Amino acid sequence: MALGKIIVMLGAPGSGKGTQAKQLQDKFSIPQISTGDILRALAKEDAPLSKQIRETQAAGKLVSDDILLEVVNQRTKKEDCKNGFILDGYPRTIVQAGQLEGLVTEQNRELKVINIEILDDLLLKRLTGRRSCSFCAEIYNVYFKPSKSDNLCDKCGRNLIHRSDDNAESIEKRLQEYHKNTAPLIKYYNDKNCLSTVDGAKPAEEVFDLICNIFQ
Ligand code: AP5
Repeated sequence: MALGKIIVMLGAPGSGKGTQAKQLQDKFSIPQISTGDILRALAKEDAPLSKQIRETQAAGKLVSDDILLEVVNQRTKKEDCKNGFILDGYPRTIVQAGQLEGLVTEQNRELKVINIEILDDLLLKRLTGRRSCSFCAEIYNVYFKPSKSDNLCDKCGRNLIHRSDDNAESIEKRLQEYHKNTAPLIKYYNDKNCLSTVDGAKPAEEVFDLICNIFQ
C-alpha cells in the first residue's frame, strides 16, 4: 500500500497553484512545498548559489534541474512529509518529472497531478496585482482579493510585499518558460493516467471545490 500521497500542482504562473495548495494543505494536513518560496529564501542568504538564484528568478528563467533536485530531496526528507506533501511549482521540466518519479518509487507514494488550466490573457492582472505576506506567506490580490487594511496581512498584521518578478517583462519570460518547458508535462502525466484538469479561470473558491471533487 502507498504511504500517503504526493500532490503536484501544475499550471502557468498565476494560475493559482499557491492559492489552492495552501487550502489543500489544511484539508489533508500535509505540507505545501513551494519551490519558488524555498528558492526565494535561498536567494536572500549569503551562500555561493544565492546570487545565481536571485538573478535567475528576477529574470523569470528556470533555476537548474540539479539545484531543484537537491532542494526537493532535502525538503521532502523532513518529518512533516511522512504522510505525503503538496508540490507547488515542481516539477517544471521533463527532467524534474523523471527525478520526481524516482522519489515516488523510493518513498512508495501515490502521485496525483492537478493541472490548473487558464488562458495567458487572464494572468497579467493576477500577477501584477498579487501581494504576499512577508511573514506568513498568505496570498492577496489588489483586484480580486484585497487585504482589509492597506498593505497589511489580515491574518498576522505584517507588511505585504510585491514580488520582484511580478513585473510585465519577467512575467512574459515566465510564460515563455512555462509553455516551452512545463506545459509538455500535461501530456506526460496524462499518459501516465494521474492527471486531472480544473478550470482555473473560475473564482478561487470554485476552483477549490473542483479540486476537492477529484479526491472524493
Ligand atoms: P514560483 O514562485 O513557483 O512562481 P510561478 O510558478 O510563476 O507561480 P506563481 O507563484 O507566480 O503563481 P501561482 O500559480 O502560485 O498563483 P497564486 O496562487 O500566487 O516560481 C518563481 C520562480 O522560481 C520561477 O520563475 C523560477 O525562476 C523559480 N522556480 C520555482 N520552481 C522551480 C522549478 N521547479 N524549476 C526551476 N525553477 C523554479 O495566484 C496568483 C494571484 O492570483 C494571487 O494574487 C491570487 O490571489 C490570485 N488568484 C489565484 N487564484 C485566483 C482565482 N481563481 N481568481 C482570481 N484571482 C486568483
